[in-house]
Amino acid sequence: MIVCVCNRISDKEIVRQAHAGMGFDDIQLELGVATCCGRCEDFARDLVAQCRASRPVAALRDAGRPCAGVMQAA
Ligand code: FES
Repeated sequence: MIVCVCNRISDKEIVRQAHAGMGFDDIQLELGVATCCGRCEDFARDLVAQCRASRPVAALRDAGRPCAGVMQAA
């Protein structure tokens, strides 16, 4: 599904970036989501928040805090 009509950015692209540990601001910079009319911003932010809630390890890594699980796996 297209989330950002102005920039043709899908929910799958946003989810992929969020699961990689990126926050909304980083995703916005990388993909350009919500950089035109802004109508997609609330939905895109909610999508990123849902991904981060379902992948707390990525959220911790993104916050710059050490995560033993990630460090051991690397
Ligand atoms: S729909 Fe995303 S900036 Fe317009």
